[in-house]
Amino acid sequence: MTPSQFISTCTADAIDQAAANLRAGSLVAFPTETVYGLGADATNASAVARIYEVKGRPQDHPLIVHIASMNDMEKWCEEIPAYAISLARDFWPGPMTLILKRSRLAQDFITGGQETVGVRVPDHVLALALLNAFSKIGGAGIAAPSANRFGQVSPTTAQAVQEEIGNYLQPQDQIMDGGASHVGVESTIIDCTHGHPRILRPGAIIERMIMDSTGLSLLENADDVIRVSGSLENHYAPKASVSLNRTPIAGEGFIAFAEIQTPENVIRLAAPKNIEEFARVIYSALRDADAKGLDSVVVSEPAGDGLALAIRDRLMRASKGR
Ligand code: TXA
Ligand code: MG
Repeated sequence: MTPSQFISTCTADAIDQAAANLRAGSLVAFPTETVYGLGADATNASAVARIYEVKGRPQDHPLIVHIASMNDMEKWCEEIPAYAISLARDFWPGPMTLILKRSRLAQDFITGGQETVGVRVPDHVLALALLNAFSKIGGAGIAAPSANRFGQVSPTTAQAVQEEIGNYLQPQDQIMDGGASHVGVESTIIDCTHGHPRILRPGAIIERMIMDSTGLSLLENADDVIRVSGSLENHYAPKASVSLNRTPIAGEGFIAFAEIQTPENVIRLAAPKNIEEFARVIYSALRDADAKGLDSVVVSEPAGDGLALAIRDRLMRASKGR
């Protein structure tokens, strides 16, 4: 059944209405190229507090502020280094979040009390239309974590958002349907508060691209005080247990590249043909395991660096269970 807050025909009027609702303090879940986000006006403390309630997420975890264009960086950030501008020019709109020194606009309820803020321009027509409509009525940015309950698999379709959080939304909240996210794993998070960039969470913007854009080498990712909830173990986990790189047995789910055969009586959940497709389908395949009531899923991980690294990062956490 489609609930009243589910918007499947995203006309200009519907987008303007969603922007107005955001401005009035409601939540709007919207598609991005990576995963669906659960949005609130990033300057509205009580609206942002509702994100935490709906997600069941600890209060001190910082949120990414989504902005309409790189021109809005200056509203949220200070002391922006030249290499961050270069990254923004080269990869926005796109699957990349920059961590920068915060401005006064980025309050503790966004940054989790840290002196930095994450900003991103997503590459999805509906997300950009929503951000532009929001900007026109005075909005500065939309805070949006992935639209899943805390610790669970990120949603890559509007239906998955509905299943995850539909029961926690209020009638004036909305879910915008923009089809399946085409990247499928969350944005690369890059810390830009040092002399060199540092990857905090791998994604589709990979090390080589960052080095080419900035002309800089990358800092090693030390486990320090920066809190990235996606870096917690047991994240991105379905209800089924996830094991990696072994032969599945009868009754188990299986996710692997298309060229790998499915053993007898194993339930094949996805057979991607290339690494981009692997990223795009991995979360929906894990969800499918739960929908089918499977207890156990085996994933044959993709090898190599680049996007494969981001996929292995998420799978490693999913395999830790809950
Ligand atoms: O692709 C994405 O980034 C998606 C879409 C919706 O944009 N969003 C997303 O948000 O993955 P979330 O909240 O699920 O994950 C954002 C991560 C969190 O792990 C958070 O801790 C980290 O970004 N983060 C946000 N602000 C930060 C900051 N100032 N310093 C360090 N980490 C930060
Ligand atoms: Mg998340």
